[in-house]
Amino acid sequence: MKILVATEKAFVPVAVKQIREVVESAGHELVLLENYKNVTELLAAVSDADAMIVRSDQVTAEVLDAAKKLRIVVRAGAGYDNLDLAACTAHKVVAMNTPGQNSNAVAELAFEMMLYQARNGFGGKSGSELRGKTLGLHAFGNVGKYMAEIAKGFGMDIYAYDPFVSGEQIKKQGIKVCASVEELYSVCQYVSLHMPANDKTRKSIGYDLLKKMPSDAVLVNTARKEVIDEEGLLRIFEERKDFSYLSDVEPDSKGLFEEKYKGRFIFTAKKMGAQTEEANINAGVAAAYQIADYFKTGNEKFKVNK
Ligand code: 3PG
Repeated sequence: MKILVATEKAFVPVAVKQIREVVESAGHELVLLENYKNVTELLAAVSDADAMIVRSDQVTAEVLDAAKKLRIVVRAGAGYDNLDLAACTAHKVVAMNTPGQNSNAVAELAFEMMLYQARNGFGGKSGSELRGKTLGLHAFGNVGKYMAEIAKGFGMDIYAYDPFVSGEQIKKQGIKVCASVEELYSVCQYVSLHMPANDKTRKSIGYDLLKKMPSDAVLVNTARKEVIDEEGLLRIFEERKDFSYLSDVEPDSKGLFEEKYKGRFIFTAKKMGAQTEEANINAGVAAAYQIADYFKTGNEKFKVNK
């Protein structure tokens, strides 16, 4: 079988080497399309692939139309909002993700941004510490759990809200449970977002929630820029000089932030959460194993389409 790794943002070479070892030792062929610049390159590369590994690459109906032999696509990562799931199903392509494999990297980036902002970008001016501050985890999945572990080390006071995780499970990890999303935002100076982008969450974080946050509020977004209602966020920035926004990746209205709110935000230019050697290896190798196993045994454990 031909297994294509199509990554507009390439994995580090050591991850590619390990992916190749898994693919070839299972008797398959690895084809690489790295750092491609336009969809035409992807359409050509996928035309004779039996399987494909992607990152945030867009797997659209057009891509699937071009992929005449494709049986499985694995998103090496957690969020699969870049896969057109209905089109995958219509094309009889199994779609999977690799949950948990890059979560520590994402959680570390959230803290890196929080620390940098708390110390005013290391510019010489006195900042603040994380110890004793309230941290709200909005969603308590794999990244949320790593966040909690790191936050404990910093001595933060940790709260979580997740409509899909029982209060018991959250409490077991020594974290305070919020009964509502409003409560989380009312209590926590830092709120960190860890939900996927889907029809329920898109633009769900807006003015009404953000205005509840205590003074010196910091919203940390290593989830997806799409979950933010940018109009509402800009209104908060206009009303409250004590509000900061740290985001992986930059918002659509980046220009306005740069023009008016210098020092109150950090935006990464490219999505950086999973950009570590470890996360590249974990997610890429997991994807390769999942494909090899699917071809060998039909295992669909991490399937995300119907
Ligand atoms: C994910 O959903 O796993 C992260 O956003 C990582 O995305 P990336 O693989 O494009 O860096």
